[in-house]
This record gives sequence, structure tokens and C-alpha cells, in this order.
Amino acid sequence: MEKYEIKSEVCVYQEDELRLEDRELIEAAKEATKSSYSPYSSFQVGAALRLKNGVVITGSNQENASYPLGLCAERTAIFHAQHMYPEQPVVALAIAAFANGHYHPEPISPCGACRQVMLEVEDRYQEPVRVLLYGIGGTHVVESVKDLLPFQFVSESLKK
Ligand code: THU
Repeated sequence: MEKYEIKSEVCVYQEDELRLEDRELIEAAKEATKSSYSPYSSFQVGAALRLKNGVVITGSNQENASYPLGLCAERTAIFHAQHMYPEQPVVALAIAAFANGHYHPEPISPCGACRQVMLEVEDRYQEPVRVLLYGIGGTHVVESVKDLLPFQFVSESLKK
């Protein structure tokens, strides 16, 4: 039997410790929660991503009376960005959530489906995506989606 460990590194920053461009991306994610269409969950999620050319694209969760058809904020933003700027890698992605009258105290960690889509972005452009998970108590930051999704299934996996 062999055993190995997969480690992830997460840094937690208070607002005044973050660089300006990260703070701006978080603000954009918080602002994006306002366009959430979430009459079923009342859980408003916003995502904001920065492309390599500096453009910021946002998205929010869009729900449906047929529940599974809704789309998370992260995928709304990513698919829109890739439609608008297919040649541009994503360098950073911030996520925030608003519910019960306040921003979430804990960081919102993206669902498994969004992690897989975020991973494809890294794989497609061969560049890591810095992920910023905003919570009132601190912003949790990973330098790559791989830190959120160990043991990845990527396009290369199909060839082996
Ligand atoms: N949601 C997101 O948009 N992103 C996440 O990372 C977690 C969950 C949405 C999906 C659904 O509209 C609502 O939050 C409740 O699950």
C-alpha cells in the first residue's frame, strides 16, 4: 500500500492586508450580488473575475422555477467572460454572498460543478486563477483552483 497527501494552501486576509486590485475585485463581487435572481433560495451570490487584459467581468446566480436549471454566479461570470474575450486568461476570481440582510460572515466556497469549470479555465490557458473567497471575517485566498479541487479531471485525463 502506498499513501500520499494532497495539500492546499489557503491564506486569510483582512481587508487592509489585501492589495488594491483584490479589494476592487471583491467590491465588484459584492456589487454583483445585487443582480442575483434568487427568489427560491434568497441566497444572492456575486462573482467578479479579472482577465489578463485588466477587464473585470461579473456574474450572479440565476435561478429557475425548475430548480436544477439555475446557474451559479461563478459560471455565469466565467461563461460570459469566455464568450466576450475567448483569448484572455482569467487571472483572479472573487466570490461574495449576501443573505438575511448582510454579507456572509464566512467565505462562500464554490460548488463542485463551478470548481470543475474554474479548473477548465486554468487548463485552457495554462495559467493559474487566484481565487478570493470573501467573508466578513476575512477573505480566504488560494493561488490556484487546484487548491480547491485536488485530484483533478482535466482534458489530459481523456488521453491516457
Ligand atoms: N450558488 C452560487 O451561485 N455559487 C456558489 O458558490 C454556491 C451556490 C447559488 C446557487 C443557488 O442559486 C444558491 O446559491 C443557493 O444554493
